[in-house]
Amino acid sequence: MRFDRSKALYERACKVIPGGISSNVRASWQPHPMFYERGEGSHVWDADGNEFIDYVLARGPLLLGHSPKRVLAAVHRQIDTGLMYAGQSELEVGVAEKMAAMVPCAEMVRFSNSGSEAIHGAVRLARAVTARTKIVRFEGHYHGWFDSHMWSYAPPVDAAGPREAPVPVPSTKGQPASDAANLIVLPWNDLDLLRKTMDAHAGNIAAVITEPMMCNMGALMPQRGYLQGMRELCTKYGAVLIFDEVITGFRLAPGGAQAYFGVTPDLATFAKGLAAGFPVSAIAGKRELMKYFGDLSVSHAGTYNAGAPCMAAALAALEELSADDGAVYRQLRMRGTRLMEGIRRAMPEAVVRGVPAVFHVSFGGDPNARDYRTYLPRDAEKYKRLAVALQDRGVRVVPEGIWFVSTAHTDDDVERTLAAVEDAAKVL
Ligand SMILES: Cc1ncc(COP(=O)(O)O)c(C=O)c1O
Repeated sequence: MRFDRSKALYERACKVIPGGISSNVRASWQPHPMFYERGEGSHVWDADGNEFIDYVLARGPLLLGHSPKRVLAAVHRQIDTGLMYAGQSELEVGVAEKMAAMVPCAEMVRFSNSGSEAIHGAVRLARAVTARTKIVRFEGHYHGWFDSHMWSYAPPVDAAGPREAPVPVPSTKGQPASDAANLIVLPWNDLDLLRKTMDAHAGNIAAVITEPMMCNMGALMPQRGYLQGMRELCTKYGAVLIFDEVITGFRLAPGGAQAYFGVTPDLATFAKGLAAGFPVSAIAGKRELMKYFGDLSVSHAGTYNAGAPCMAAALAALEELSADDGAVYRQLRMRGTRLMEGIRRAMPEAVVRGVPAVFHVSFGGDPNARDYRTYLPRDAEKYKRLAVALQDRGVRVVPEGIWFVSTAHTDDDVERTLAAVEDAAKVL
């Protein structure tokens, strides 16, 4: 495949856009950050006209595939009617009602635009309600790019120190070191350690925040009883349990990871699965907490919050996801399972982990990895080579190993993808 036009655009972009990209995450693309022109269903076309079966799906949001027709029709109607009002529209009530019907913890909902913003709001609310400041978070979990949350996502182990008591490590230059004082970082999936920590800090912990499945690092699953134990500890110590469902929300199940694992948090954040690619995020949670946004004692604001076309997109997306008793999830599960099994067959040395809608492929890793540090030792370079080989064969995957599957992927996509995997495996 040739990427001449993408390369020329990249060089042009680098002159006016730092790094030629608008999110640092996009820098890892090989042979250079690519440019795209069109997406439809499960396929995407780049600036050189190359066509790919897409498992990047914008890193999660395109749960219904590219440009889903029903969602676009709703957005087009709304664009012709009105964009934003600095006031409410019936649409946002509809989305909140729909979320309340689908998501166990969602007694009330507030909308923002990105996952990072929703997390910012949820953590502020937890601190306000508990009148405490410390947040327990886990190594390897990503909770957005804001200063106080972008800690210990991918820390060098040397800098992070002992496993049982990691030092909070900032993820970028420019983060105030003082934020570390408000954080307690722990390894994930270790309930004893969480219990000891909460015992030791009883009365000081405002919230425990977790990805309910470690999607950003290896698609690691919670061990049996772990999330339930976390729930019980938070209740015991009066800490707010926050599930960061930015990836898992509406992807694992209509009710998100909390429905999938049967554990209900106090607050949860949603974004990527919510509005089929439109910038909508949400803080959802128990009325007794959310009411403090309503009495204005806790600030949550945003000029672009709940813009009408975005709300039209979210409503149409949620209607599609919940139609026919969640029929789309059955298809998603079936095709995702065939992909996972086919990849295992084609590359028996690969570790394939996760759930059919979002899974992870790696080489040389510990199949029983349970946290950031046990996930780390793997052959990341070999996987990057696989990603490049797949790209050359018309299959687009994230270079870090995660695969997102959409309701738009077809049986034919699965077959062609597995043929490409088998072929790529030969040249690795
Ligand atoms: C689990 C999780 N939380 C939060 C975020 C941040 O969301 P956004 O990029 O929309 O700010 C992400 C983004 O990848 C995420 O994966």
